[in-house]
Amino acid sequence: GLETFTGLDALRARIDDWKRAGLRVALVPTMGNLHAGHHSLVELALQHADRVVASVFVNPTQFGPNEDFARYPRTPEGDAAGLEAAGCHALWLPSVETTYPFGIEGAVRVGVPGVTAVLEGAHRPGHFDGVATVVARLFNQVRPDVAVFGRKDYQQLAVIRYMVRELAFPVEIVPAPILREPDGLAMSSRNQYLSADERPRAAEIHTVLQAMREGARAGRPRFELEAWAEQHLAAAGFEVDYAVVRRPDLSEPPEYGNGARVALIAARLGRTRLIDNLEFEV
Ligand code: PAJ
Repeated sequence: GLETFTGLDALRARIDDWKRAGLRVALVPTMGNLHAGHHSLVELALQHADRVVASVFVNPTQFGPNEDFARYPRTPEGDAAGLEAAGCHALWLPSVETTYPFGIEGAVRVGVPGVTAVLEGAHRPGHFDGVATVVARLFNQVRPDVAVFGRKDYQQLAVIRYMVRELAFPVEIVPAPILREPDGLAMSSRNQYLSADERPRAAEIHTVLQAMREGARAGRPRFELEAWAEQHLAAAGFEVDYAVVRRPDLSEPPEYGNGARVALIAARLGRTRLIDNLEFEV
């Protein structure tokens, strides 16, 4: 069964029991409104640990002033039921006061340079510092052996890996594959903001990512693929923040050449901002 914790002392007592019994503990950090993509993270965590803790915390420090913090969907009953069905052992529901005991203004912040300056970081100033800040706190609250993060948030995964190395967190980071709807749309809590008219059109992002991959493999230059993707998405009614091909470390690859690549797109459809990516080899 799933045990729900709202206080840090009770959570830590349970985790100490597990550790004394020699059990390996995994953490799956989330902001709730859980869907099959999140459940797949729990299932992957069960392959790497004996006990799985999922946290649900809508983290105020990672939302910009004009973003959807207040209207971010909160579905506690459905979240608990889905986690239990996925085999999760504990649900950690920290309050803002537990996670930020001196308030948001007084918060000690984790700043991650470099990778936070580009792509998502450039379009959402402060976002990744807020993510690193809350994940550092969650790691210290739960003290997991393993933590699972989705490849859907490609740059977030890079930020977490960098922070873990820099701050020597004794946590193994396990990346999870992107779970998609049958038409290719990456599952996301934000998909429900899409209108009935927008929803089928949203899958175009995945189609364009696949076309970028095929174009790269056919030897087309990177800037041509990026320009085509941006124009194609704009013509399909998206407002494009970026549509790019990068190396796995997010640096710019040469125009032509072989190696590991990732195509990344961020675009708005109406009021909904969607991100997705596709990793491949050329
Ligand atoms: P959230 O958006 O709730 O996502 C929680 C985790 O689920 C992240 O690791 C994300 O990459 C993963 N995820 C979301 N959709 C997915 C999909 N379709 N397939 C696979 N994995 C998917 O990301 C956050 O919350 C927050 O930034 C957090 C890390 C919890 C810090 O507040």
